[in-house]
Amino acid sequence: MLAERMTRLGVETAFLVSAAAAEFAARGHHVYPFHLGDMNLRTPENIIEAAFRAARDGKTGYCPSAGIMPLREALAEDVGRSRGIPCTADNVVIQPGGKPTIGKFLLALMNPGDEVLYPNPGYPIYESQIEFHDGVAVPYRYLEGAETFALDLDQIAAAIGPRTRILILNDLHNPTGAEASADELERLVEMAIDHDLWVLSDEAYFDIRYSGRSRSIASLPGMAERCVLLYTFSKKYAMTGWRLGAAIAPRAVADGVAKLNVNDESCANHFVQYGALEALTGDQSGAAHIVEVLRQRRDACVDALNAVPGVRCQRPEATFYLYPNVTALMARLGLDRYDDLRFAALEATGVSFCTRLHFGRPLPGEGERYIRLAYSGIDVDQITEGLGKLRDWVAAS
Ligand SMILES: Cc1ncc(COP(=O)(O)O)c(C=O)c1O
Repeated sequence: MLAERMTRLGVETAFLVSAAAAEFAARGHHVYPFHLGDMNLRTPENIIEAAFRAARDGKTGYCPSAGIMPLREALAEDVGRSRGIPCTADNVVIQPGGKPTIGKFLLALMNPGDEVLYPNPGYPIYESQIEFHDGVAVPYRYLEGAETFALDLDQIAAAIGPRTRILILNDLHNPTGAEASADELERLVEMAIDHDLWVLSDEAYFDIRYSGRSRSIASLPGMAERCVLLYTFSKKYAMTGWRLGAAIAPRAVADGVAKLNVNDESCANHFVQYGALEALTGDQSGAAHIVEVLRQRRDACVDALNAVPGVRCQRPEATFYLYPNVTALMARLGLDRYDDLRFAALEATGVSFCTRLHFGRPLPGEGERYIRLAYSGIDVDQITEGLGKLRDWVAAS
């Protein structure tokens, strides 16, 4: 009954894990939610107040498709300064969330049959949208190092062929928390320029970091004109449910994306954009508090995971995800299938997490096993209690 293209549309399978956790909770059990990258932190009060004020002031009708001008200007200023790139309001197209930038970028720049390099493990929407819009999804991988995960640059280089047109980079990376080194970025830039690739730089976690400074691939010479940035208010300001983000793109691409806005949603929520304007231009203490809370959770989570026999977990400096290696854990428990691990842990301890399988199909030759935990939606005492139960359960088995 449904059109053929619907068979090519994927889902964000982390939501399926939520459903399993909700079903377990409905049976009267306590759940420790590490599965979804949602946040249990409040949006800073000044942002809420600004949006309410705008609604009361009558900002409840349609607004320009590319977004209200003061917000586009403020975001251009913010992104231009933080990334060190030239950026004006003409480059900014406001979106209902960060996610819509992915599909609109592909619609604006990818022709049927074009090959698109994307991270695997990675955010599952890339593969879904590439295939839905008639592109060819070509995965690239990350390799586990001692302290961080690294891009497999040789594999990326080998995967580039005559039909490759686009590279999707998610630096600071969901699910591994990895950040590309200066060398890695330079090699990617070389490849993008040599092969005339467009780059979608998904910077959803640009501001969720605990030390150092984030850097955008768009800031390297020759890149601003071939990069589209995915920006979102979701994580930095704990605004996941407000649904507001932006595509930051060279003028011609921005105009194309704005045209897609006209066809899709007309405009992002009008009064919500005034909340976002306050987020960018008002008091920043709320955003700083969010990062500090997340840092405490990261430390609690990493320490507790490394106390679980058979688990090896890095301490990433960015994002709110952990991607521990559980190869030894699965061997110890005598489990081979990821779902068996996930359900066994949920039933025995209430700890709910995603596995490698929720971030793309495992690639040939991939021997190590991983799970992914998000600590954005769970407090430190619950982290310690839940992962303590996990440790005791594993130790007793
Ligand atoms: C890598 C990545 N990109 C984009 C998004 C989309 O964020 P938004 O809630 O702003 O649509 C997410 C959300 O989890 C993400 O992890």
